[in-house]
Amino acid sequence: MCIKIGLFFGSTTCYTEMAGEKIREKIDMLIGYPSVTLHNIAFNQIDSMSKYEFMIFGIPTWDYGELQEDWEKHWEAIDSVYLQGKVIALYGLGDQVGYPDWFQDAMGYLWHKVRKHGAQTIGAWPNKNYDFNDSKALNEEKTFFVGLALDDENQSHISDARITRWCKQIIEEYCSLKK
Ligand SMILES: Cc1cc2nc3c(=O)[nH]c(=O)nc-3n(C[C@H](O)[C@H](O)[C@H](O)COP(=O)(O)O)c2cc1C
Repeated sequence: MCIKIGLFFGSTTCYTEMAGEKIREKIDMLIGYPSVTLHNIAFNQIDSMSKYEFMIFGIPTWDYGELQEDWEKHWEAIDSVYLQGKVIALYGLGDQVGYPDWFQDAMGYLWHKVRKHGAQTIGAWPNKNYDFNDSKALNEEKTFFVGLALDDENQSHISDARITRWCKQIIEEYCSLKK
C-alpha cells in the first residue's frame, strides 16, 4: 500500500508548524519513504485537501478558546471541500496552565467540523498526564482528546515522546481501516 498523507496546519508563532515537521519526520521514518507533504493553510492550500485520502490537521487554540487565525480565515471555505470518507487525524497545540478553561478548544471545533462532513477520524489521545479544567476537544465521556494534545509551554519535555507514540498509533489505525 502506498500511503500519501497531506498535513495541513495553521500556526501563528510556529509551534504547530514545528510539531508538523516532527510528525512528518517520524511518519516518513515509520513508513520508510517520504509520504507526508506539509501544507501551511496561511498560503491558501486548502484546495489540495481534495487530493488526499489520508490527512493530518494541526491547529493551535488562541485567545480564550478561539480558532487560530489562518484556520479561521478558511473556516467557511472548508465546508466546500469534499471530506466524505476521508481519514483525518488531528493534533492541537495549547497551554493548559495559562488557559485551563479553554485548553485545546480549537481542535474540538475542527474535529466536529470534519465529522459533520463525513470524515472518519483517528488518533484519539488519552487525557491522562494533563492538568486543566475544561476543553472542547474531549470525547463525550471526557476520557480522550479527539486528537493529539501538545503543550509546548508546559510539557515540551514530553512532546517528542507523545509525537512518536501518536504517529505509530495513527499509522496502525489507518492500516487497520484499509485492511
Ligand atoms: C494570547 C494567547 C492566547 C492563547 N489562548 C489559548 C487558549 O485559549 N487555549 C489554549 O489551549 N491555548 C492558548 N494559547 C496557547 C497557544 O495555543 C500556544 O502558545 C501554541 O503553542 C501556539 O501555537 P502556534 O505557535 O502554532 O500558533 C494562547 C496563547 C496566547 C499567546
